Amino acid sequence: MAEMIYLDHHATTPCDPRVVDAMLPWFTERFANPHSDSHAAGREAADAIAGSIQTIAETIHAPASALLITSGATESINLAMRGVMTHPRNRRNHMVVCTTEHPAVLDVAADLQRSGVEVSYVRVHPQSSGDASPPGTIDLDALAEAITDQTALVNVMLANNEMGAIHPIVEVARITHEAGALLHCDATQAVGRMPVDVGAMGIDLLSASAHKFYGPKGIGLLVAGGCERRVRLRPQIVGGGQQQGLRSGTMNPAGVIAMATAIGLGVDDGPRIAALRDRLWQTLRAEVDGIELNGPTLSDASVRLAGNLNFRLRSVEGETWMAATPDVAFSSGSACSSANPSASHVLLAMGLSESEARRSVRFGVGRFTTESDIDQACERLIAAYRRF
Ligand SMILES: Cc1ncc(COP(=O)(O)O)c(C=O)c1O
Repeated sequence: MAEMIYLDHHATTPCDPRVVDAMLPWFTERFANPHSDSHAAGREAADAIAGSIQTIAETIHAPASALLITSGATESINLAMRGVMTHPRNRRNHMVVCTTEHPAVLDVAADLQRSGVEVSYVRVHPQSSGDASPPGTIDLDALAEAITDQTALVNVMLANNEMGAIHPIVEVARITHEAGALLHCDATQAVGRMPVDVGAMGIDLLSASAHKFYGPKGIGLLVAGGCERRVRLRPQIVGGGQQQGLRSGTMNPAGVIAMATAIGLGVDDGPRIAALRDRLWQTLRAEVDGIELNGPTLSDASVRLAGNLNFRLRSVEGETWMAATPDVAFSSGSACSSANPSASHVLLAMGLSESEARRSVRFGVGRFTTESDIDQACERLIAAYRRF
């Protein structure tokens, strides 16, 4: 098989070599426990973690004191949603969730619902809305209607992992705060891909994972108290009381330093990545009949992530095209975790039919993708398509 061309950067990104260099000494030479403050080696690790937390906080414009280190976005999201809703001093029992959230959010919402929390799901603008609103972005009127004086938490992601739609988060925050609720934003796909300003965006809680921005897997962050509003969290992992008792367990210096290095490298060069994504789209569109874009326009970087491409084929299923092109890594509009893959809930929520969702594919261009990668990927994809 030819060398794999990786165009699936929404699933994960490779570790940037600068990140690997920064983290390696913390496994071997500097391996002390950062919570051992009785010796210099432990204090050195603690200082490195504190400096890294400062870097991360400054990069996303959040208070360093509000930053918690977790094992990744899934844990951060669990802590944010369960932590707020089950805190003994929380008197509000209602939560709002956008329909196109990642399962890491939807499954927690469903679990909280089973234990008595009321949950409202807010729609997004459909693919063929006919109005000016970008498809896949949250319907702000529906959001305002869903929020009540019993709403404790509103969960809206910053950018969608399937079709890259960027939600109008400043508006979402304004509507949320008017009702006295808190905003939790899953920014897993946004950090490293677009500027994130927790304070200016009005985000109270923010979740992210380092492996989506060229850091390692198994480390993530939660901002809990990004703005002036107080956030009370009930811890989900208890033990040694580390991290203000909110997330116990020995911290991972190599991971934290890697995450700080990765985030400190800054956001991707949007115009370069968008140009490669557009080249992919133009080439495929010229050669593959009747393909149609899913999600917002490609020409406005304020409503769609630069590297994201999602479209539907006329008659072939995404899974079939993937199987026929094993040397290009991309993904389809079905979740292939089961024997009978279910169509993407995101595409269905945008009004696509089951069949359209199954005929959809997603590509994600990344920092190290080259023009030659795009051209070779197109050759392979088109050659495979012609065999159908
Ligand atoms: C939008 C979004 N949220 C949450 C997650 C979960 O991240 P992790 O698996 O790193 O915990 C992902 C990963 O695909 C994601 O894309």
